[in-house]
Amino acid sequence: MSRFWHGFADMHSVATDEVVIRSAEGVWLEDVDGRRYLDSTAALWYCNVGYGRQEIADAVAAQLVRLPAYSSFGAYTSEPTVALAERLADLSPIPNAVVFLGSGGSDAVDTAAKLVRRYWDVVGRPEKRVIVSREFGYHGMHGWGTSLVGIGPMKTGYGGNFIDEVVNVGVMDVETLGALFAERAGEIAAFIGEPVVGAGGVIPPEPHYWPEVTRLCREHDILLIADEVITGFGRTGWLWGSQRYGIEPDLITFAKGVTSGYMPLGGVLVGERVRAPFWDDDVPGAVFRHGYTYSGHAGAAAAAMANLDIIEREGLVARVASLEPALDRAVRRLEGATGVGEVRTVGLTAAVAFEPSLLAADPGLPERVVSAALRHGVASRVLRGHALHISPPFVITEAEIDTMVDGFAAALEDVAAAAR
Ligand SMILES: Cc1ncc(COP(=O)(O)O)c(C=O)c1O
Repeated sequence: MSRFWHGFADMHSVATDEVVIRSAEGVWLEDVDGRRYLDSTAALWYCNVGYGRQEIADAVAAQLVRLPAYSSFGAYTSEPTVALAERLADLSPIPNAVVFLGSGGSDAVDTAAKLVRRYWDVVGRPEKRVIVSREFGYHGMHGWGTSLVGIGPMKTGYGGNFIDEVVNVGVMDVETLGALFAERAGEIAAFIGEPVVGAGGVIPPEPHYWPEVTRLCREHDILLIADEVITGFGRTGWLWGSQRYGIEPDLITFAKGVTSGYMPLGGVLVGERVRAPFWDDDVPGAVFRHGYTYSGHAGAAAAAMANLDIIEREGLVARVASLEPALDRAVRRLEGATGVGEVRTVGLTAAVAFEPSLLAADPGLPERVVSAALRHGVASRVLRGHALHISPPFVITEAEIDTMVDGFAAALEDVAAAAR
């Protein structure tokens, strides 16, 4: 029986049923018993450049020997951190951005949420404290993320909300958003949303959604945070989801794809408006008293630099764009399978949802399909209790996409056969 407490897991069963991965190469994982699995999710949407990248490991090793990390509080920092901030600012769709770093997406969301409140405080509007998020939105599991999440079960059981100044609106409901902004703009600090809802079930935006949200935020003087923890660094076939969907954010949160998970790293790109009172304008006492021990970690920055080199050199963002139709075609083969309801795809990610009526009668169905897929050599997981998660590494080939979908098809067939 394992002593490792898994995230989002029912340890009553997982403790005796772990899948222990030993090594990986490209899109293929190998477990401790020598079984191979195609990684249909790039772990948790992060291993975009694929596994086994010696060049990232070498860059990190060299950096760790030279200087593993140094404090970034006060005036201190390290060389790769400054270089990475410069590079991210250049890549940012927000003009003249500056960069605040942490160790992952939840850090980034907490940083952004605290920063927008601190911004309104230093510019003399401390009553603007509410952050508005979306139904099905996921923003990590720190205090702010748990308060902003739009997936009900992730909030329950803690004796109430951690942060009360949050409002959650329908996933595509710009009308309610407009009415809320009109009524309460004086209290609202920011709106946060994922360009494509990810963990909530791969829900691409309707065409008018983001231009309208951007317009509403401007009209009502509400800051816009694009949570690009999944969509950043190419997942939609554009470097940023904000570019694909015409979002004009004041802040962007990112993590995952910045290092492809070779080291833990995340951060916030901050535009001129929010940075100004802290960096440029003469605002007495305008200091953002926030930071993490590993903010600007040199080894993580080295991993990000090497990872970004690979993405650029191998044209991996363009590769996602060119694979988008192939993934869509392949995954839609599952539309006719027993139990399958809506199939949603965008860029190099997809969700295969189960029929709502079947799910209502049998909520364990998706997990059984995931287990069956594993037996057919495909590693996946369930999104929001209702869909199969697909987001393979960007280096997947069209043949491997077919192999992956064949594995899911066989798993669906096994589970349907067992129910007959
Ligand atoms: C959109 C989004 N924001 C934030 C997070 C939290 O990131 P982390 O798990 O690295 O803290 C995630 C993680 O999946 C995410 O998808």
